[in-house]
Amino acid sequence: MKADITPQEYEAFKKFLQDACGILLGDNKQYLVKSRLRRILEENSLNSLGALLERLNRPGRGGLKEVVIDAMTTNETLWFRDNHPFRILQEKLLPEFSDRNGLSPLRIWSAACSTGQEPYSVAMVIDEYRRSRPGKLRDVKITATDISKSVLEVARRGEYEMIAIGRGLSPERQKQFFTASANGGWQIRPQIRSMVDFKELNLLDRYMLGKFDVILCRNVLIYFSADLKRDILTRLHGALNPGGYLILGASESLNGLPDLYEMVQCHPGIIYRKK
Ligand SMILES: C[S@@+](CC[C@H](N)C(=O)[O-])C[C@H]1O[C@@H](n2cnc3c(N)ncnc32)[C@H](O)[C@@H]1O
Repeated sequence: MKADITPQEYEAFKKFLQDACGILLGDNKQYLVKSRLRRILEENSLNSLGALLERLNRPGRGGLKEVVIDAMTTNETLWFRDNHPFRILQEKLLPEFSDRNGLSPLRIWSAACSTGQEPYSVAMVIDEYRRSRPGKLRDVKITATDISKSVLEVARRGEYEMIAIGRGLSPERQKQFFTASANGGWQIRPQIRSMVDFKELNLLDRYMLGKFDVILCRNVLIYFSADLKRDILTRLHGALNPGGYLILGASESLNGLPDLYEMVQCHPGIIYRKK
C-alpha cells in the first residue's frame, strides 16, 4: 500500500468489515489493516485502501471480498484449547447424553472451527469415550463451520505440520489419531476425519443446520460488537435442542441473556444450558 490510510478510508473499511463478517476494528488498527492487506493490494495492482474499497463495491468483484475477509480474520487455534471444555464434554456431557433415551444422534456444532483442531479434538474425546464404554454413543454427528474457505480447506484435508501437531496434542493422542504422511506432515486418521462434516457459514447469516445438543462458539465473538454478540447468542439459543449446552472461550462470558441460558459451574470451567 503506497499511500497512508486516510481517516475516511479507515472508517469506510471498518464498516465494510463489520457488515461483511461482524469483526469490529478498533480505532487505531491502521497498521494491522495495512500489513494484512499489503499482498492483496499488490496482487490486484491497487495502491490505496480507497482503491480496494472502490473495487469491492463494483459488481463482478470476483472472490475479492472473500479474500479480504480471509486476510482480516484471526485463525489462531490449537488442539484441546483451554482443556476444560473437553474434560467437561468427557466427564459430564457425554455420559449425560449417552444415558438419555431416544434414537436421535447426538449433534455437536463447532461454530468457528478454523483449521479443524476444535472439532477434531471433540471427535477424539468421543472416540476415547466409545472405547471406554463399548456400545455407547454410536451415533454422533459433528458439524464444523467457518466463514473462511482457506481454513476449511486445511480442516477438510486433515493434514498438519509437526509444529501445528505439537500445539496442545499429547504424544499418546498423536500416535493414536494420526499417521505420518509422505511429505513430512501428519494425517488425521479416517475414523476421526469421518466424524466431522465441514461447511462454510457466516455467523451473521441464517443458520440452516438444524438443532444441536452442544454448540462450541469459542474465540470468535470477542471480535464482534456487544450488540452483535447478543444477537448471535440469541440465534445460537434457537439452534440448541431443549437442555442443550453452549460452550464459550475461556476468556468469554455470557453477560445478560438470563432468560435464555443458565450458567453451569463445572469446577473448573463454565458452560451454559439452554433454558
Ligand atoms: C480465533 S479462531 C477460533 C477457532 C476455535 N474456535 C478456537 O477457539 O480455537 C476464530 C475463527 O472465527 C472465524 N470467523 C470470524 N468471523 C466469522 C463469522 N462472521 N462467521 C463465521 N466464522 C467467523 C475465523 O475465520 C476464524 O477461523
